[in-house]
Amino acid sequence: MNSKVAKSSNALPTQIGRVGVLLGGNSAEREVSLRSGEAIFQALLANGVDAIKIDTAGSAIDKIRAANLDRAFIALHGPGGEDGRIQALLEYLAIPFTGSGVQASAIAMDKWRTKQIWRGEGLSTPEYVVVEDSTDLAASFAALGGKVMVKPSHEGSSIGMSKVETLAALGDAIERASALDTTVILERLIEGPEYTVAILGDQVLPPIRLEAANTFYDYDAKYHSNETRYLCPCGLPEQQESELKALAYAGFQSIGCKGWGRVDVMADSAGKFYMLEVNTVPGMTDHSLVPMAAKVAGLSFDQLVMQILEGSLAS
Ligand SMILES: Nc1ncnc2c1ncn2[C@@H]1O[C@H](COP(=O)(O)OP(=O)(O)O)[C@@H](O)[C@H]1O
Ligand SMILES: [Mg+2]
Repeated sequence: MNSKVAKSSNALPTQIGRVGVLLGGNSAEREVSLRSGEAIFQALLANGVDAIKIDTAGSAIDKIRAANLDRAFIALHGPGGEDGRIQALLEYLAIPFTGSGVQASAIAMDKWRTKQIWRGEGLSTPEYVVVEDSTDLAASFAALGGKVMVKPSHEGSSIGMSKVETLAALGDAIERASALDTTVILERLIEGPEYTVAILGDQVLPPIRLEAANTFYDYDAKYHSNETRYLCPCGLPEQQESELKALAYAGFQSIGCKGWGRVDVMADSAGKFYMLEVNTVPGMTDHSLVPMAAKVAGLSFDQLVMQILEGSLAS
């Protein structure tokens, strides 16, 4: 882990060639992806890169082939674009792309598989139970402390997720989650501050503390509310901040992620950290979290975009 943030951009636009910004797509996060992709596209143009936008909704394969790309900047969030499928297509077409590869993207999109790896590696993540037909819900609920987050394993942006504090409310919450996914997990509720840690190459950017006015950092808090407060620097004492950064970096590496990403983490009242998930294509609007952390590290949005893109030169 490198804590010093390199600021220079070495690659020339001519070495980079023609870049396709893949955006939109068909997932529930389409609208956010369109905004991320547009911001990335503008940053590439500002850096003199020969860039075009490609909306992958519809015939993605034909559009990508026809565009004659030298590399792709993946700005797709959620299933289809963040889960290894578009990465596999690009690999097949021999087009280098930004961010994580096929396997790491697929694992990171699945919160359950991600947690299995973290547990296996001894990396901290909240205790959980996978809901199956045979699951004793009352016993699991009690074992998880009587307060849980019910999550579909695959969706993003808090869609289909609920905080449940009574056994009576559990059934409905599971139903909502299972309407979206075949795998539903119950996760112990962690009551304490929330952080998110951006990773750029082998650098860990300054963690951000999130303070949502809502009951949790839900879809509304993420994209509509003005009441979420973001603190960066996050206010932790140096020792704990280093611990948080090291955990996030280890979590990112253990999944095999590369290039860039963002790890969501909660702390309990005793200050112990628990990783929730890795986002392999986090939001990149100018209000998003990775750009916010980059800015504190001294990188402008345009510089950040170029560094992420340069990560694709190595592949
Ligand atoms: N175990 C948990 N304890 C407390 N809050 C949680 C827990 N899991 C998720 N949350 C809240 O829900 C939000 C979304 O959860 P997350 O696992 O990051 O999924 P996603 O961002 O893909 O929707 C988190 O940012 C956090 O505010
Ligand atoms: Mg999250």
